Order: sequence, then C-alpha cells, then structure tokens
Amino acid sequence: MPDSTPLQLSHADMKALGEYALSAAMRHVETLRDQPVSRRLLSREETEALLRVPMPEHGTDPRQLIDQLVRDVFPHVLHADHPRFYAFVPSPTNWVSILADLLVSAHNVFTGHWLAGPTASQVELVVVDWLKSLCGLPESGGGIMVSGGSMANLTGVAAAREAKLGGPDERGTLYCSDQTHSSMAKGVRLLGFRREQRRTVPTDDRLRLSVPALEAMIRDDRAAGRRPFCVVANGGTTNTGAVDPLHEIADVCEREGLWMHIDGAYGAAAVIVDRGREALRGMERADSITLDPHKWLFQPYEIGCLLVRDARTLRAAFRLNDDDHADYLTDVVRHISDEVNLYEMGPQLTRSFKAVKLWLSLRAFGLSEFRRAVDVGFDMADEAERCLREDSRWEIVTPSQMGVVTFRWRGDGSLSDAERDARTPHVVDAMREDGYALIMSTQLKGRPAFRICAINPATNAQEIREAIRRLAGFAERLG
Ligand SMILES: Cc1ncc(COP(=O)(O)O)c(C=O)c1O
Repeated sequence: MPDSTPLQLSHADMKALGEYALSAAMRHVETLRDQPVSRRLLSREETEALLRVPMPEHGTDPRQLIDQLVRDVFPHVLHADHPRFYAFVPSPTNWVSILADLLVSAHNVFTGHWLAGPTASQVELVVVDWLKSLCGLPESGGGIMVSGGSMANLTGVAAAREAKLGGPDERGTLYCSDQTHSSMAKGVRLLGFRREQRRTVPTDDRLRLSVPALEAMIRDDRAAGRRPFCVVANGGTTNTGAVDPLHEIADVCEREGLWMHIDGAYGAAAVIVDRGREALRGMERADSITLDPHKWLFQPYEIGCLLVRDARTLRAAFRLNDDDHADYLTDVVRHISDEVNLYEMGPQLTRSFKAVKLWLSLRAFGLSEFRRAVDVGFDMADEAERCLREDSRWEIVTPSQMGVVTFRWRGDGSLSDAERDARTPHVVDAMREDGYALIMSTQLKGRPAFRICAINPATNAQEIREAIRRLAGFAERLG
C-alpha cells in the first residue's frame, strides 16, 4: 500500500479507503435509531483483551483496522448522538458538521494566528459575532472557540480575574451556586484559587441561586477583607435546566462592581427559540458567557465557546508581553494591526479550526432549522413530564425546563424515601443494559432522582413514552 513517500497513499488507495471510511460513517448515522443506545459496560479486563496490541513495527491494511473500530470500539461507547439518549447532555450532531471535521483535518488548519490563516481566523470571528449577537452582547464583544464548557469556564474566570483583580490575588473571591457545574471548581483551582476563595451559594426551592444569600456572602467577605470579583450564574444547570435569576444577579454585580459570568454551556444556545429567550432573560447583561455548540447546537465534539462583553478583556488576560513572545513568532506579531491573533485571546497557540463546522452547518441549514431542532428539545421534555404525571407512581421533582425533567419513583406509596433512593442506581443499570434508551440519575438536594434531557431533535414522543414505560417496569420489578 505505501508508495515511495513515507506515510502517503496512492490516489487509488486514498479513494478506496476514503469511500470505505465514509460508508462506515454513513452506516452509523443512518442506522443509529436501530442500534442499542448502550450496551453492558465492559470491564478493564475485557477492553484489554479486545484492544491491547504491542506497538506495531509494521503496518496493517487500514480497512481491517476500520473494521475493528466498527466491531470492537464504536458499539461499546455510549451513543450520545442517539435519538433515545436522554442522559447527561446529549450530543446530537449533523452530517454537514461531520464532513466539516473531515475537511478541516485534511487541510490541517491552524487558527492560532493571522499569518497562518487569515481566512480561518475570519470565519471564527464571524461565528463568534453570530453567537455574541444571539446572546445580546454588544458590538464591543468578542470570544474564542475552545474545547468545551470546561475550558470556556476557565477562560472566563481568567478574564474576570485580570479585569477585576489585575491578576492573582489571595483575597480574590468568586461565587457559584451549589448547582454550578463541577468544571467551574476545577477551572478555578487550576487558576490557582484556594477552595475558600470559591464560595458556594445555596439555591432556592427551584434550585436557582439565592440572591439574598449571595448578597449576604459578599457583604461578609468584604467585611473580612476579601475581594469579591466574580459571580457565576447558571444559564441552564446541567442537573435540572434551572436558570438563575439573571437580572437580579446582574443588578448585584453592577452594584458591587463584580464580573458576571454565565455558564450557559448547555443552555445558552436555547436563546434562539422563544421559550429559551424568555428563560434566559438578562443573559445579555453578562460580562462573559460559556456556550457549547457541541451541546445544543448539534456539533460533533469538540467545540465550546467563551463570549465576552468586551473583547479587550480577553486580550488583557491572554496576550503576551513584548518580552514574553517566542522569538520564532516575530513575524507573526509584525503582521498585526487590525487583524487578530487568536492565540492572544485564549490559552492555546496551536488551535484547530473548530468554528468552521458551525459556520458550515448554520449556513447550510439556516438558523430557522436550528430553531426547529432546539424547539424539539423543549417539546420532548414537556412530553416526558406529561407522561410521568399521567402515572401516579412517578413524582416530578423539577418540571420540564430547558429540555430537562427530573423525577422519582413513588411506586404504590408504600416505600420509604430510603427504599426508593436505594432502588435508583439498580434501575439505572437495568435501563442501561436493556439498551433501548438511556436515562440516568442525578443528586438533588442530597437525594437521587432520575433525569431526562431530551435535546436530540430526532427523538419523538412515542420513544420518550416507551422509555418511561420501561423505566417504570424496572422500578417496579427491582424491589
Ligand atoms: C453547564 C455546564 N457547564 C460546563 C460543562 C462542561 O463542558 P465540557 O464537558 O464541554 O467541558 C457542562 C457539561 O455538561 C455543562 O453542562
């Protein structure tokens, strides 16, 4: 197979292998609905037996290797793109974006600086502008594509720290709710903050950040000589879809001179439909917003985005001082006036061309098609709630909001809370092994609850109802 140049294939081999890989990809996408959404979870011993090979000195026909991936690897991963995947945050994709990833890999586009790719950087600037205006941020705003919500949250806090504290400060204090995604805790720690510099604000009975509690904490912290600098609000918690009271939090931030970051990794994209815009009122007042296109904008992993109200804040946090520039980047810096070196807006130098899949798919389908797709998520979570309410053996914990509903098994009423709670993980496991649909659990105020996140636009009411029927069957049986 190899021709004389190392690592290269002949035209005929490229074509044959390309068609082979493409048909495997199409088969997956086209048959997804008929595949199990999950399988029995393999043990480490089993994955070792399937996949451990010595480092190969010589090659193998890549078609055989693709066959092995299709046989031994892909079937055992959770299909987050499956229409009946209702766990975590589903990740439905679209074929145009999948092909965009292929094209980007083929061209191996570097978007770290203008010199390497002015057009690629321009596409990213355009996509950031689209997202920025969808979220209601002003012209002065900007943003950067990153791997996902974790990196966007970290990047947002880095910008906040620079803007409000002028750099690391042992007294700097940041506020999250007890529902804030754990990636925020990790990011804040990586930035060098100690645990006590991140305050956990309690939530109200709707699991929304309590503003009176926030105000009291800020007051106490100031009195103790700390420097409050940032409040993290949730634009759709992963647990329940709850949106914090954004206007009230923005008022506090304005009054106190604090940076308002919204973690809308999961929920912010819902702003494109009426129900989402209504739920996210006040988002436009944020200083920074995390929005993950690989969640509710139907993109394959990885593409997250941090948006900021003032593009200069990102540059302030990430630009290199003149004496810190790598010598070999001299020409890169020389070429800049109005142009943008994206490596100075975020943590990475070498960056792939993530924005183009969103650019291509939005242009190919139009925003109206994305609106239709997001609306399905709201409708399907409503459908799940309706179905659960029709059966008195279920108890709704949080109603359908932003595509998420949470609930517990009540049964015939004879079970204690402890008995009901103990049953939950067994029901989850049974459901996963059944493979029809994936419904998992979360912890809400210290107790387990089932959770459906129904944002795949290919899901339908009949499947949601069948999934809940099966879940009830397992809950009934697994006493
Ligand atoms: C609200 C929220 N923030 C942050 C994250 C982390 O995003 P990622 O997994 O893309 O790093 C998630 C992931 O589900 C999320 O739902």
